[in-house]
Amino acid sequence: MKRISLLAALAVTALAALAAGCGGGGKPANNAAGGGGAAALTRPPAPEPYAGKTNSKTSDADVAEGQKIFAGQCALCHGEKGDGDAAAGKALNPPASDLTDPKLQEVMKDDYMFWHIMEGGAALGHTGMTPFKDSLKEDQIWQVISYIRTLKKK
Ligand code: HEC
Repeated sequence: MKRISLLAALAVTALAALAAGCGGGGKPANNAAGGGGAAALTRPPAPEPYAGKTNSKTSDADVAEGQKIFAGQCALCHGEKGDGDAAAGKALNPPASDLTDPKLQEVMKDDYMFWHIMEGGAALGHTGMTPFKDSLKEDQIWQVISYIRTLKKK
């Protein structure tokens, strides 16, 4: 019994941290500050069945395909250059992340990105980003991830 209530208390604390957008991770990159302006930007680990998935669609042809998918499906919110500079994306709360941000790119593991794109913002309890698991094939999601990796600012 004791152990269960301790776990419950921990879960509540974690949820509160998430809701407050601090510490616990899950805070999307803030476009104005780039990477959230936080010294310690974090993202949660991908849960099952996404945990540990790796990208095998990384050839130049995959990147080119990913670029087309990004222009057609993602640029509306994330901006043509992926830097979050699109009116529709900025109007959302939280706004569409600056995917070019080097700090964000480092904390976004491949399995995390795959999870977030499959499930949309719901992965982090947000509502702005639509899920793509019904409209894109898994290979297409990996291709768009390969393209996003090329957008990382130095
Ligand atoms: C309707 C607007 C919209 C569209 C379309 C959209 N996104 Fe997003 N995206 C968002 C918003 C808003 C966030 C930040 C909030 C969140 O985590 O959901 C986000 C976050 C993300 C993240 C996580 C970034 C982070 O800060 O952790 C990734 C990766 C991502 N989007 C990729 C994509 C890709 C790839 C596509 C196209 C297949 C896409 N998005 C299409 C609105 C959108």
